[in-house]
Amino acid sequence: MRNEREIICLAFVATLVGIGLLVSGVAWAGENQSPYEPSTVCASCHADIHGMWANGMHAQAYSDPIFRASFLQAFFETEGEATAYCLRCHDPTSRIPEDLDVKRDIVGAGVTCDFCHTVQDIDLGRRDAPLNSQPGVKKTGPYTNSHSPAHDTEKKDFFKKSELCAGCHQLTGQNGVVLIGTYQEWKESSYAADDVQCQDCHMPVEPEKKIVSEDVKRSKRKVNLHNLAGGHSIDQIRSAMKVEIKNVIQEDESLFVTVHVTNVNSGHKIPTGTPSRQLILRVSVRDRSGRFYLESDKAFEKVLMDENKQILGRDHEIMLKASRVYYDNRIGPKEVREVPFSFSIPYPNLIKDWKRKLTVEAKTLYQYLPQVIGSQPMIVEVAGDMYPRK
Ligand code: HEC
Ligand code: HEC
Ligand code: HEC
Ligand code: HEC
Ligand code: HEC
Repeated sequence: MRNEREIICLAFVATLVGIGLLVSGVAWAGENQSPYEPSTVCASCHADIHGMWANGMHAQAYSDPIFRASFLQAFFETEGEATAYCLRCHDPTSRIPEDLDVKRDIVGAGVTCDFCHTVQDIDLGRRDAPLNSQPGVKKTGPYTNSHSPAHDTEKKDFFKKSELCAGCHQLTGQNGVVLIGTYQEWKESSYAADDVQCQDCHMPVEPEKKIVSEDVKRSKRKVNLHNLAGGHSIDQIRSAMKVEIKNVIQEDESLFVTVHVTNVNSGHKIPTGTPSRQLILRVSVRDRSGRFYLESDKAFEKVLMDENKQILGRDHEIMLKASRVYYDNRIGPKEVREVPFSFSIPYPNLIKDWKRKLTVEAKTLYQYLPQVIGSQPMIVEVAGDMYPRK
């Protein structure tokens, strides 16, 4: 016999599935009245670009199971009120017309081609709608004088500027607390001063790709990467930082280790974005035989609290309730952070001959622990160093 708890659980899951179907629009599939064109239409000519985009996080901004689970929690807690708020960035084509039940084919498609390429102007002062996207026959883009049989074109300078990204990668909550600060972190860095935009790092030119299929038009125009990788790209995280053991000093029975962690290659803080990401610096001391082992961790993260000073850990709670910053010790662009560690080693035979007998190791781990049912933590080793060096 099932106990009461199990039944409540089952009822909860059934409701989740029910709302899930509702929200995904399964019940209404086939009725497409959105003024936005689906990305599959663009794919018929822009096949290479579509291929990249379809593999990236923008295509999955709505279907991503981590977002979906978190969105459902927000939906329940606010009795549906959070829908417009969450979807303006995760499913922006649901905005026009106000289609927040997500019931047309086109919606639920994430950050689509036709959303970005119909943006007419940007005003970051319009907090709830900084990107003014007007669907229609005119597609905006980075080039002048493009000619297409399918649509008109218009050049907009902001396609090469971070402000386009800021429309979604910057978010302020209650009391002016910054929930997502990627744009601001960049703006305050030397990259902004040196005119290195988000696109320069995240959308490099892809020499092998074609802007349109050759049977449509032979064009030599360059194509930019549309598969934007970040926290989900291990290579990009690895390229972003350096870890170095600066020195190890022995005093009595203690070892004092100084480690430098450098944000060499990221245009914003590490980690950036939603606060559920952490960077861990782990320093360990072990003897060569492997019998003696000590380790110590230091976390770099942004921790937010609600108005009752409760620490918030789950994405949807952060998005809905954060109203003050508890602390933020993340590592800024090009910053070198010096981090001291000390280890007590109460073994005279080890400490006396520590340079020969002990190895010190430092490494950073990028950790993302989505707090939703059934999701796996993501932990990636990023960079490391050893003492004595090999
Ligand atoms: C019938 C083929 C076809 C279809 C369908 C199509 N395009 Fe195009 N598109 C072109 C051609 C051709 C060009 C011009 C390329 C050139 O001149 O190098 C172009 C250019 C563009 C540009 C560059 C504009 C600029 O000035 O920077 C953008 C952006 C664009 N298309 C977006 C889209 C989007 C979004 C869709 C889907 C809603 C789409 N296209 C559908 C053929 C097509
Ligand atoms: C309409 C809103 C929107 C715009 C405009 C936008 N993004 Fe995003 N972006 C998102 C959302 C939402 C996600 C998260 C998807 C997810 O993980 O569910 C995302 C994910 C990303 C990621 C991957 C993050 C990860 O954790 O792997 C990168 C990198 C990124 N965006 C960069 C950019 C850049 C660069 C621009 C400007 C050229 C841009 N975005 C414009 C909404 C947007
Ligand atoms: C998050 C917004 C965003 C989305 C989504 C997006 N693009 Fe783009 N697209 C850009 C930006 C920004 C550039 C200009 C990059 C640069 O010049 O540095 C661009 C450039 C282009 C160009 C000109 C050639 C090039 O690569 O520079 C075409 C054509 C294009 N996009 C088509 C598409 C199609 C088709 C899709 C969907 C499969 C799509 N885009 C999805 C932002 C976006
Ligand atoms: C100098 C190159 C550079 C610039 C400029 C840059 N980024 Fe990044 N970005 C990176 C690297 C490297 C990573 C991976 C390491 C990390 O998480 O910071 C990254 C990661 C990200 C992530 C994933 C964050 C995470 O922790 O999961 C997002 C989202 C992102 N960038 C968006 C942007 C936006 C938006 C801009 C412009 C405001 C921008 N980036 C400017 C290099 C850059
Ligand atoms: C201003 C735009 C914006 C709004 C509003 C927004 N998000 Fe996001 N969200 C993003 C961006 C951008 C990312 C991914 C990159 C990052 O970490 O910066 C993201 C990432 C996430 C992630 C992590 C997904 C993953 O796979 O890593 C979750 C979960 C999430 N958002 C849930 C929500 C919920 C729930 C709401 C509404 C209560 C919401 N977001 C509102 C822009 C937004």
